[in-house]
Amino acid sequence: MKITKIEDHDKISFMDLLLLADEDEKMIEKYLYRGEMFALYDDDLKSICVVTQESDDVCELKNIATYEKWHGYGYGSELLNHIVSYYKGKDTTMLVGTGDIPWILQFYQKNGFRISHRIKDFFTDNYDQPMFEDGVQLIDMVYLSKSL
Ligand SMILES: CC(C)(COP(=O)(O)OP(=O)(O)OC[C@H]1O[C@@H](n2cnc3c(N)ncnc32)[C@H](O)[C@@H]1OP(=O)(O)O)[C@@H](O)C(=O)NCCC(=O)NCCS
Repeated sequence: MKITKIEDHDKISFMDLLLLADEDEKMIEKYLYRGEMFALYDDDLKSICVVTQESDDVCELKNIATYEKWHGYGYGSELLNHIVSYYKGKDTTMLVGTGDIPWILQFYQKNGFRISHRIKDFFTDNYDQPMFEDGVQLIDMVYLSKSL
């Protein structure tokens, strides 16, 4: 297994994976080039993530996705733990914002994140189309944080 940082000019080629976590390409483009992208390979590409710097000592995980066929094999957690180690020392806190979906919240909580706050109506205010995950409409953005 290998995790590598992706250069700006290659980032767009990972759009199919990025769209699994964020259906709106315009929203992805807002953070793609100001963020750092990491790709996890196990033989071939399995997972991707993007992390942005939000202030002097706070970074934010903006997107993390594993190809559907490979969900539940531990690749997402491996990548998450890698970026936590990578940003330790540079930042004091990592944030992640997500929809209010129990299994996604559990995925982050299992990896040491704790719920910090929510932004009311984020998904209905910022996306042109209603967003759904597992048949549930996304409305508020739930933020979780982890001390690094
Ligand atoms: C979230 C995501 C990146 C996790 O990646 P992964 O490689 O499957 O991660 P892991 O295998 O380390 O752990 C996933 C956990 O979520 C669980 N899970 C995955 N999909 C699930 C689903 N649809 N319903 C319930 N649980 C699910 C797995 O069972 C596993 O839990 P476990 O360790 O207790 O078995 C992946 O599910 C994904 O790409 N989802 C689509 C994009 C997305 O929603 N990204 C998050 C945006 S905030």
